[in-house]
Amino acid sequence: MKAKILALLREREDYVSGQEICGRFGVSRTAVWKAIGQLKKEGYRIEAVQNRGYLLMPEEEVYGQHELESRMGTKWAGHPLCYYDELPSTNLQAKLDAENGAPQGALVVADMQTAGRGRRGRAWSSPAGMNAYFTLILKPEFPVEMASMVTLVMGLAVAEGIRETCGVEARVKWPNDIVIKGRKVCGMLAEMSTERDFIHYIVMGVGINVKRQEFVPEIADMAICLEQECAKPVSRARLIANVMGIFERYYDIFRRDGNLEGFLETYNELLAGRDGEVRVLDPKGEFRGISRGINSTGELLVEREDGTVEAVYAGEVSVRGIYGYV
Ligand code: BTN
Repeated sequence: MKAKILALLREREDYVSGQEICGRFGVSRTAVWKAIGQLKKEGYRIEAVQNRGYLLMPEEEVYGQHELESRMGTKWAGHPLCYYDELPSTNLQAKLDAENGAPQGALVVADMQTAGRGRRGRAWSSPAGMNAYFTLILKPEFPVEMASMVTLVMGLAVAEGIRETCGVEARVKWPNDIVIKGRKVCGMLAEMSTERDFIHYIVMGVGINVKRQEFVPEIADMAICLEQECAKPVSRARLIANVMGIFERYYDIFRRDGNLEGFLETYNELLAGRDGEVRVLDPKGEFRGISRGINSTGELLVEREDGTVEAVYAGEVSVRGIYGYV
């Protein structure tokens, strides 16, 4: 109920009477008064004026369970949502939850991670009050071969979510990263539990750099945060809710079609380094070519000098632009 009151106050941007809130949610005046009191304790500034009602004052971001819930406009992605001030890793928590019966769409969000995990066994620096760290639980009914495409669906959702939230030109660096001006703003880590051809669950972890921060020297010239590029402060809750909304829409199309055909063009429009030269680090031998976008099963099409086109599968290789990170 607190999240619903919050959403109503935010949307109205004006006083909302206690009576209206009671009527809308079918609760007593005392229940409304209590909920408002608790929201104030969480950090919201809510002004109460006799005969007018309650007004939510624009404030610095309050980040937490109710803020996130109040912004989530999805049917299934992001429900239920569990917010933590601190976790070792949202991926680890999501795996535990998935094993204990959490449904498809459950979302784990943390303000800070003490053991944030990146790909290839690396750590993902996860300080408090700065970034978005979240993991979505999926319990797909499709075959294991389709699982690698889920990362591409999430990548597209994050790139579009960033554009929608802050108007910044984010692009997908196939298959796992999101970049702005060639620098990494987001990394994704998908982990999966399977049995023969059956997927128990996929946990799709996303880390987005949001507030201005000092990056460690090793990554300082490859990393970027949203507020470096965006003129105004970025609400992490709004960003996550936008990403969930877009993901839900694309994932439902992907499930229906069994491939990425339904939004292939959109993906390729947002692909970093498209039609540029790439170096494919294939264990069977490195080669160069021109990136021509992905196909409907998520492979990157690389045109070699002799004109032949190679479909590169994400699991086996890494792709680099020949000049720098992208
Ligand atoms: C990478 O680029 O190496 C992937 C980084 C993935 C980081 C996110 S933050 C939320 C989720 N929880 C984790 O421990 N890792 C992922």
